[in-house]
Parts: sequence; structure tokens; C-alpha cells
Amino acid sequence: MQRTPEPEELMDEAAQAQAYADADFNAANNLFVELLEQSPSGTLQGKLLDLGCGPADIPLLLATRHPALHIDAVDGAQAMLDLAQQRLVNETEAGRRIRLLCEYLPSPRLAHQNYQFVVSNSLLHHLVDPGTLWDTIKNCAHPSAQILIMDLARPTSELALDALVETYAIDAPDILRRDFRNSLMAAYTVNEIRDQLHAADLDYLDVGMVSDRHVAARGTFLPR
Ligand SMILES: C[S@@+](CC[C@H](N)C(=O)[O-])C[C@H]1O[C@@H](n2cnc3c(N)ncnc32)[C@H](O)[C@@H]1O
Repeated sequence: MQRTPEPEELMDEAAQAQAYADADFNAANNLFVELLEQSPSGTLQGKLLDLGCGPADIPLLLATRHPALHIDAVDGAQAMLDLAQQRLVNETEAGRRIRLLCEYLPSPRLAHQNYQFVVSNSLLHHLVDPGTLWDTIKNCAHPSAQILIMDLARPTSELALDALVETYAIDAPDILRRDFRNSLMAAYTVNEIRDQLHAADLDYLDVGMVSDRHVAARGTFLPR
């Protein structure tokens, strides 16, 4: 199936951000955390950068589970960060270790921060230029940092797309069903991500499907 880019890169519309924040992404979020916890660094401690953090569900999960983790959670949409801020207020200890940053990528302000972890869920398919994500990793990650980039994978056919929407968004509000469909159509395939990594000189990262609808690129950052 041919790729159709997202209509909007940022999720800065209040109703769209609210619908996203209200949705149940527990399965994807837990999968993401599980994959990161499998990383060879053992315990998760130090500085972690989450790119395109949305309402900060993943940063909160990580900060709650890993008390020595300090997280910079970045999004270009203030509407999303306002919702994230509301969540952090109720999470005194973990919330104190999460810094919300309104930055539109590529952002020179994030460069040279030497993060031990650079992660992102569901951002890649939003970007006008996917190279922005890979360049940001190269500019921000500490040598030997752990990288985890997860996203939806574009289905092979309209039929497969309809089946995923039916399976995972059957009871979702219209706005979310529309967003899920748009995201699947804008997502990249495993092979396209391999090509992007090759072009970015990051082709040593491991890429593959990690669920029936998610792809992940992960591994240790080895600057050349
Ligand atoms: C689908 S949401 C994913 C949110 C979160 N990572 C999650 O897993 O729930 C994608 C987020 O990326 C943000 N985004 C898209 N393009 C961006 C850019 N160029 N710079 C910063 N944030 C961006 C959007 O505003 C949106 O909040």
C-alpha cells in the first residue's frame, strides 16, 4: 500500500490532543517499556530523552518504574504538553524527574545533551522528513546510549488496514478511528526504515516487527 503522509505533523488541536490523551494505549505503552527494559544497559538510570512524548504516558510509566531515571519529554504541540502537565501534577516524585519541553524537531537546543537513552513512540510517521528523527538521535545521544524507536508499521493492503482499524479501534470515538487510520497509512514499512537507517549511518540498529502493527528500531548508539 502506498504511503499517505499525515495531514498535520503536530497534534496541536485541543480536541485531537484530548481524544488521544483519553485513549487506552496501555498495550502499546507496556510493549514499549518491556522492549526498553530488555536493553543491555541493565537498570535504567541517567538521562532519557523521549521525542514526541504526547501526553507523557510513557515518560510517567518509565519514571515510576525506574527511580534513577531523569526524563526530558519533548513535543512540539503545546496542547499535548498541557495535558501532560495535568498528569504530572498528580505524580509528585516521578513527576519531579520529568521535564516537559516544547520543542519542534529538529531543535538545536537538544543537541550535545549526551542522553543515555533516546526513545520515541509513534513520532516517526508524523515527521515531514523522517531524517529529522535519526539526525536528532545522532546529535543528542551519548556514545553507547540505548536507542528505542517504535512506531506503527504500514499494512501491506487496504484490507489489512481495515482489519487493524476494526480490531483495535472498533469502539473508539470517530476522531481516534480517523487518527489511527491516518497513522497506519502514514507509517513506514520495515524495509523503508532500514533504508532510512542506512542513509543516516545508523544501519547497525536492529529493525523488525514487534507486534502485529508495531515496528521497532533499537540498539546501542555507536557514533562513527
Ligand atoms: C502519535 S503522538 C505520540 C505520542 C506519544 N509518544 C505516545 O506514544 O503516546 C505523536 C506526537 O509527536 C508530536 N510531533 C510530531 N511532529 C513533531 C515535531 N517535528 N517535533 C516535535 N513533536 C512532534 C505530535 O505533536 C504528537 O504529540
